[in-house]
Amino acid sequence: MTMTLDDKRTQLSVLNQGVGACRACPLGTQRTRAVPGEGPIDAEIMLIGEAPGYYEDQQGRPFVGAAGQFLETLLASIGLKRTDVFIANVIKCRPPQNRDPLPEEIGACSHWLDEQLGIINAKVVVTLGRYSLQRFLPGNPIGRVHGQGRKANGIWVVPMYHPAAALHQGSLRRTIEEDFRKIPGYLAEARREAQSEPAQPALAAATAAPQVEQIPLF
Ligand code: URA
Repeated sequence: MTMTLDDKRTQLSVLNQGVGACRACPLGTQRTRAVPGEGPIDAEIMLIGEAPGYYEDQQGRPFVGAAGQFLETLLASIGLKRTDVFIANVIKCRPPQNRDPLPEEIGACSHWLDEQLGIINAKVVVTLGRYSLQRFLPGNPIGRVHGQGRKANGIWVVPMYHPAAALHQGSLRRTIEEDFRKIPGYLAEARREAQSEPAQPALAAATAAPQVEQIPLF
């Protein structure tokens, strides 16, 4: 059954409160603020990063530091503002010193992202960095699959390098700029499919599943 926008708003608000109170792993007691994610309830595109950093932890918002500024530049290059997309992370609390998330932290946090995917029901998920890629397309190295959209469990997944990595490496920067320009094409394809297919169950995209249909478009 299709959720109304009001249903979605209510569910997301409950989820945000849940993330704010979550103590399922030690990061929940170490954070300043949890960072559930933000964006329009009916966003067609979801960007999924890795974990909050220092500024995100201070403000409770995703991608508000230097990587976030670069992300906004990338979005602008395809005619989008950050308020046009839903932005979230694989884990919702900052790891100390911005270290990589641990498997147990990712495991404890994964149901929040599953639920967000189900509520927003975006047409395209853009993964930012390795941890997000592994969440959606496990076993695929970023160097091989970046910029190539694939359909996984009914949703288009477009892998990108992490903007923070690209910010400091000239060659990666050009790569992520080129990869970002492919997003509108995948969104157009997803819209075409949505018009010609019956609606899919909302949570179809939530789990990184074995069956990955590989349909490179570009
Ligand atoms: N890097 C991420 O992966 N997420 C953020 O929210 C900020 C930086």
